[in-house]
Amino acid sequence: MNKNTNITWQASKVNKTERSKQKHQQPCILWFTGLSGAGKTTLANALEQKLFELNHHTYLLDGDNVRHGLNKDLGFSDADRQENIRRIGELAALFVDAGLLVLAAFISPFQTERRLVRELVGPDEFIEIYVATPLSTCEQRDPKGLYKKARAGEIRNFTGIDSEYEAPANPELVVDTSVQTLDRSVEQIVAFLKARGILK
Ligand code: PPS
Ligand code: MG
Repeated sequence: MNKNTNITWQASKVNKTERSKQKHQQPCILWFTGLSGAGKTTLANALEQKLFELNHHTYLLDGDNVRHGLNKDLGFSDADRQENIRRIGELAALFVDAGLLVLAAFISPFQTERRLVRELVGPDEFIEIYVATPLSTCEQRDPKGLYKKARAGEIRNFTGIDSEYEAPANPELVVDTSVQTLDRSVEQIVAFLKARGILK
């Protein structure tokens, strides 16, 4: 809800098109969604490194990190996860306006919030990458020991255990890190971005 009534949008003199032309890229959000432990952070980091080598201007937003600062007031109830993604969407949209390739790695478990971010920037600027690693593999990996705690009842509302994950219906890309190497997944995404004209 917008509580501000007496405000007027102020257009800037330099716009998104000009900013992105300077960076030889079409700004967009690369939105990684998937279960905890699916490989979102690992994949987004490897891709960002590759894009950096190719001289692209990127910024990586990651759930664990954003929850240390901007969103440290939010927990893991459905409502807090919705607000988490709403704020990230607004933030990512600002970075897109700055002309950047934004990599966003959030569980983002609900279709509605992911759709709202897509609508916020428009369909050409939202690439949904479903990191579709199965729950059994994520739980086996358990890199932070969170599944173990969730199974023991020490963490409530854990995604895939006692909190819902709604898989994307029509993602632009699907990556299953249990059957594909990290390098291959990065290549797959880079090839897609070139074919879409995002990397120039
Ligand atoms: S969400 O659902 O999009 O709001 O979550 P996100 O901001 O991406 O934060 C997920 C990271 O928080 C840690 N963590 C939990 N994840 C899921 N459920 C519960 N209850 C939970 N508690 C803490 C966990 O490290 C997640 O990081 P990833 O990288 O996904 O494992
Ligand atoms: Mg992570």
